[in-house]
Amino acid sequence: MPRLTSRAEFEAWRQSILASWDPSKPCITVCGGTGCSALGAKEVTAALGRELKKQGLQDKVDLKMTGCHGFCERGPLVVVYPQHIFYQSVTADDVPDIVSETLIKGNPLERKLYKDLVTGEPIVYEPDVPFYREQHRILMKYNGLIIPTRIQDYIAIGGYQALCKALFEMSPEQVIEEIKRSGLRGRGGAGFPTGRKWEECRRADGDIKYVICNADEGDPGAYQDRSLVEGNPHSILEGIIIGAYAVGAHEGFIYIRHEYPLAVEHITRAAEQAEEYGLLGKNILGSGFDFTFKVHRGAGAFVCGESSALMRSIEGYAGEPRAKRIHATEKGLWERPTVLNNVKTWASVPHIINNGADWFAQMGTETSKGTMVFSLVGKVNNTGLVEVPMGATLRHLVYDIGGGISSGKRCKAVQTGGPSGGCIPERLLDLPVDYEALTEAGSIMGSGGLIVMDEDTCMVDVARYFLHFTMEESCGKCTACREGSRRMYEILERIVHGKGQEGDIERLQEIGTTMINGSLCALGRMAPNPVLSTIRYFREEYEAHIRDKRCPAAVCKDLITYSIIAENCTGCGVCLRNCPQGAITGEKKQVHHIDPSKCIRCGICREVCRFDAIKVE
Ligand SMILES: Cc1cc2nc3c(=O)[nH]c(=O)nc-3n(C[C@H](O)[C@H](O)[C@H](O)COP(=O)(O)O)c2cc1C
Ligand code: SF4
Ligand code: SF4
Ligand code: SF4
Ligand code: FES
Repeated sequence: MPRLTSRAEFEAWRQSILASWDPSKPCITVCGGTGCSALGAKEVTAALGRELKKQGLQDKVDLKMTGCHGFCERGPLVVVYPQHIFYQSVTADDVPDIVSETLIKGNPLERKLYKDLVTGEPIVYEPDVPFYREQHRILMKYNGLIIPTRIQDYIAIGGYQALCKALFEMSPEQVIEEIKRSGLRGRGGAGFPTGRKWEECRRADGDIKYVICNADEGDPGAYQDRSLVEGNPHSILEGIIIGAYAVGAHEGFIYIRHEYPLAVEHITRAAEQAEEYGLLGKNILGSGFDFTFKVHRGAGAFVCGESSALMRSIEGYAGEPRAKRIHATEKGLWERPTVLNNVKTWASVPHIINNGADWFAQMGTETSKGTMVFSLVGKVNNTGLVEVPMGATLRHLVYDIGGGISSGKRCKAVQTGGPSGGCIPERLLDLPVDYEALTEAGSIMGSGGLIVMDEDTCMVDVARYFLHFTMEESCGKCTACREGSRRMYEILERIVHGKGQEGDIERLQEIGTTMINGSLCALGRMAPNPVLSTIRYFREEYEAHIRDKRCPAAVCKDLITYSIIAENCTGCGVCLRNCPQGAITGEKKQVHHIDPSKCIRCGICREVCRFDAIKVE
């Protein structure tokens, strides 16, 4: 098809796509996101293709491999439309039954349905599964419906209409005003107002300006940006083109992790298609606006997600942060005015232009508008990607969507904001999640990482874990961060090994404060967060480690001993057979014993004992 050269041609093309799009036609979707693909989604799709052909249904039923639906731990996921019948953990062996029972007879296949965690009752329809029912999906809404590599699918759900509206009905200033009024704030960490950033760039001197999408996503465990790029790449591209028009940029980049091959493939394909149809490149849809877009792969250093390091990296230098005496909106990439926004920030833009600033601003809290996508992981029953309005409480996320604590134990804390975030204790679970509330509680929103911890978690060990990550990722340019993170880590190491000293807590606080005040970039300024927040809320755990040489959560190996509770031990011998050190002795049907001098505290005996007879203290 030749490039579209006007809005009228685009509209005619859109109408032809809509005419061939029949929402009532049976359709079976398989999640083809990275998680489900790793679990066998491609085999399921291939088996479905074969089975539909075998049953003569290939023309009557659409088969689609979509992006991530969010509930990755239950993958591979299959949804049958138009009913929205939801199947989890599907294998190729389930396919003949799904086709014969559901597609031919119209019955749900009970063994593949999600079971309610409390009642055990099967739930048939996707919108009724609590994990989905309790969410408010805007950015993630179409991930499970469209083929990400087919621009026609995106057009069918309203894609590129916001771009048309912006280019043909709005001036750049009006676009900026709309984004400002919506209250959209950056979803990559600091929550800077997006409209203000764009305005600063528009007003900056210079003919050459750039826009960049930050898809570096270095937080361990976070994958919401990857899933959006994989599942709906055109939505991000559309946001970027609108942003470029608003600020007056004619060139843009996505900086994306090299370790995200599917996301790289999909955004590259999306850009090629947009170019082919005249939505990218010279004179977009005949509007007179030119914009080119390049995909730049990052090499996987956490610090390269930081704005100035990211721009250095695109320029071809080592990704080291620079002092920000002048905003990037004035002197950014190649010293030109530049707007850098996160994937979720860009993906929000078409929704705001289509539905209006007021629609967006009605969601959320006084200062944080719209929705946020979190990657909910850790000790919850339902882990995955969840989208909720800003201001939803942590309790809602953990219990209503996450289905509560997987171990059946008490929730102890929630860590938000990735490795530079803080730990919020259970008693603050009713905290509404917005930028200010999280900062006040000693944490950050970050890019949406959310890790749930139960009472078996040692908070000193958690702080040590995160500090180790940021210490390793520090670029070493400034002393406060390079040396401060090392010294803090050394102190934490000795505390968890039972060698903590009086004054260590104060030393940690002092070094942490120096890092906050003396570091060049936010990596160093935020790195102390996990330590300072755990001292703030769990000080007694630090004291137990330092003064009593005791780990209350029974995690730190040098501070715990394993023994057998005589009253509970049946002498079954399972622990003896599984102990890797030969540390357990005992006759059959007699109480067993652990030799502390041989025990390496691996915990295997506790895992295998069915009589709750292993004590750790
Ligand atoms: C060490 C470090 C890593 C960062 N990593 C990311 C990242 O992976 N993705 C992201 O969008 N922002 C990241 N940021 C924040 C960016 O510097 C920047 O604030 C953000 O991309 C701006 O976009 P926004 O206004 O849409 O949030 C990181 C910041 C620091 C200090
Ligand atoms: S704060 Fe840390 S990561 Fe940032 S520039 Fe300094 S040494 Fe590098
Ligand atoms: S597994 Fe448990 S019950 Fe069996 S011998 Fe060991 S401690 Fe006793
Ligand atoms: S903790 Fe490990 S080494 Fe120690 S007794 Fe149990 S199984 Fe053996
Ligand atoms: S990858 Fe399939 S639900 Fe996330």
